[in-house]
Amino acid sequence: MAVAVRPAGTDTEQLPRTVGGREAAPEEWREWSEEPGHDLVATDGGRAVGGIHVSVVGQTEAWMEAIRVHPEAQGRGIAGQLVREAEGVARRYGAAVMRTAIPVHEYSAVAVAERAGYRQLFRAVVLETDVPTGPPHVPYDAPVEQPRPEQTPAVLRFLERTQTVQAWEKLVPLGWRFRRLIPELVRGLIKDHRTALALRPERSEDPQACVLFARHEDAYIISTIDGSPSGMQAVFGEVVEQAQGHAGRVVIFTPDHELLAPLAVREWRHHPWCPEGLIVVQKNLAS
Ligand SMILES: CC(C)(COP(=O)(O)OP(=O)(O)OC[C@H]1O[C@@H](n2cnc3c(N)ncnc32)[C@H](O)[C@@H]1OP(=O)(O)O)[C@@H](O)C(=O)NCCC(=O)NCCS
Repeated sequence: MAVAVRPAGTDTEQLPRTVGGREAAPEEWREWSEEPGHDLVATDGGRAVGGIHVSVVGQTEAWMEAIRVHPEAQGRGIAGQLVREAEGVARRYGAAVMRTAIPVHEYSAVAVAERAGYRQLFRAVVLETDVPTGPPHVPYDAPVEQPRPEQTPAVLRFLERTQTVQAWEKLVPLGWRFRRLIPELVRGLIKDHRTALALRPERSEDPQACVLFARHEDAYIISTIDGSPSGMQAVFGEVVEQAQGHAGRVVIFTPDHELLAPLAVREWRHHPWCPEGLIVVQKNLAS
């Protein structure tokens, strides 16, 4: 019987996130997600044999994740079919581009993306550390401030010039989903107090570092942190101070482990879902 792919209802049977001992998505992807999405289910003779999740993350941007196929049904093109259906859903919501992140070590998923016409954009590393208990190191020459919404253009201009955002082709991750860094996004993060700037000692308009972050019960997540070494220490100290007593760990997304050297964190652990990092891929849905 042919495999059918349909949106999942509330009572639809779905494949678990882990299939054959492999995790299709990190444990926290739903808790950290910033927007709702759609679960699609592949069924064969009434039995769930595959699944995927697709979210619209910007006016014309979509993100897919948690693709998985039952081990006994793998190699029959079901993943390819799930990707095509997810793309169809994204197009119906006006998305012109679809992206996803794949752990570097997941060769099958990388192969699926390549066969489906996705091109590799860049890599990211996800690191975590326990929230330090003592008072954070506060450099004297980098006072920290939460920007006001009218500072959105200046914050955006600063972020766009950072090595991090340039390496990521002007995308930033919120939760596990990368999306374009646009003024509306920065303004929203500023309004939600999810941004901190390290100013210059003379307090000129130009910041020397910036952090974008999210607060969750299990972790504080830094999507982007970049700037001068003491500026980075200062904004990291701000996040750590906020996290103390609220969460056990800080998770950071970065293009390169080395960029975090100024933070002088003694022990970084690679996120267990992607110990060798992530590959972010993209496909233009209009073509
Ligand atoms: C990744 C996964 C979803 C692939 O499912 P699948 O149904 O076996 O994949 P498909 O049969 O649709 O394969 C699609 C294409 O990728 C190719 N492909 C799939 N696995 C491959 C592999 N290990 N090596 C090389 N090519 C592979 C297939 O040949 C196929 O190309 P074709 O259409 O030209 O023949 C499945 O292995 C899985 O569930 N893995 C565990 C969960 C996981 O890692 N999810 C991804 C997290 S990002």
